[in-house]
Amino acid sequence: MKIKTVGIIGTGTMGLGMAHVFAQAGRNVVAVKATPGSTEKAEATLAGGFSRLVDRGKMEASERDAILDRVTVTTDEGAVADCELVVESIIEDIATKKALFERLEDICTPEALLTSNTSTLSVTAMMAVCKHRGRVAGLHFFNPAPVMKLVEIIHAFETTDTTLQVLDEFCKDIGKDPVIVQDTTGFIVNRLLTPYMLNAIRMLERGTGTIESIDQAMKLGAGLPMGPFELADYIGLDVVEAMSSNIFEDVRSEHHAPPHTLTRLRQLGYLGRKTKKGFYDYSQKPPVQNPDLAHPFA
Ligand SMILES: NC(=O)c1ccc[n+]([C@@H]2O[C@H](COP(=O)([O-])OP(=O)(O)OC[C@H]3O[C@@H](n4cnc5c(N)ncnc54)[C@H](O)[C@@H]3O)[C@@H](O)[C@H]2O)c1
Repeated sequence: MKIKTVGIIGTGTMGLGMAHVFAQAGRNVVAVKATPGSTEKAEATLAGGFSRLVDRGKMEASERDAILDRVTVTTDEGAVADCELVVESIIEDIATKKALFERLEDICTPEALLTSNTSTLSVTAMMAVCKHRGRVAGLHFFNPAPVMKLVEIIHAFETTDTTLQVLDEFCKDIGKDPVIVQDTTGFIVNRLLTPYMLNAIRMLERGTGTIESIDQAMKLGAGLPMGPFELADYIGLDVVEAMSSNIFEDVRSEHHAPPHTLTRLRQLGYLGRKTKKGFYDYSQKPPVQNPDLAHPFA
C-alpha cells in the first residue's frame, strides 16, 4: 500500500512538524486545525519553516512553493476522508483522543491507517473505540519532527503485522529511522526521559542546585545536548505534566507523579518555549532562569 496523502489532526508544534516532514517527502498533506479559529497562523508557521531553509540557501524558492502547494490546512475534519494514513496530534487527553478516533472511523475508509502521535497514552484505548482495529497504531514522532530521526511505531493490542509493515516502510521512505514498540505507557523514550525530568525538578525543589547549574551539569557531565529544564521547556510543560500524570496513573508510584513546581507553572500558563516562559524566561536574550524559581519552595 502506497501512502500518497496523509491527514494530520492538530496543527500545534507536532502536527505542523509532521506536515513539514510529509510534504517535504513528496506526500500530499491535509492538516486539520482541531480548535476553532483561522488557519492563517498555522499556514504562516509552516511556510516560515520552509522560507528559513530558502534564506539559508538550503532550498530553492520554487521547491518551497511546490511543497507548500501539496499542503491544505483546514478546520474541516471531513477533509481527511480520502487519506491513506491519518495521524492525530491533538492535546494529550485520552477522552478527547478517543472521541476523535470514533469520528475518524466514520470519516475514513476502512483501509485507512489511523494512528496517534501520543507521547504516553494507551493506543489500545483509542483502538478500543474503533470497529476496524487492525489498522490502528501509534506513530510517535519527536520534536522537532523535521530534525529528529526516530519514530516509535506503537504496536497496540490488535494492530496487524501488515499495518506495522506499511508504517515501517512509510517511515523509512520519508527518511526516518523507526523502531517498533509494544503499547506500554511512555513507550521507550518518554518512559526513560520523563522520570529524568521529574527528578531534576525535585532536585531543584530540594535546593540541590539552580535551573542553570543542573542543566549545565547534565550537558557538561553527561554529554547531553540540552539540560533537563531546557528539554522540559522545549517539549512544553503541559505535555511533560501530562506524560508524568499518565505514567503515574499506570504505575501508581509517587515517584512518577507531577512535582508541585511543574503543576504550578502549568497552572500559570508558563508552558516553556511555546509561551516564552517556563523554567526559563525566553523574552531575554540569551534566556535567563525564571526568577520566580530562584529559591526552592516545595
Ligand atoms: N511536544 C512534544 O515534544 C511532543 C513530541 C511527541 C509527541 N507529542 C504529542 O503530540 C500531541 C500534540 O502535542 P503538541 O506538542 O503538538 O501540542 P501543542 O500544544 O503544540 O498542540 C496541541 C494541539 O491540540 C489542539 N487542541 C487543543 N485543545 C483541544 C481540544 N480540546 N480538542 C482537540 N484539539 C485540541 C490544539 O489546537 C493544537 O493543535 C500530544 O499528544 C503530545 O503528547 C508531543
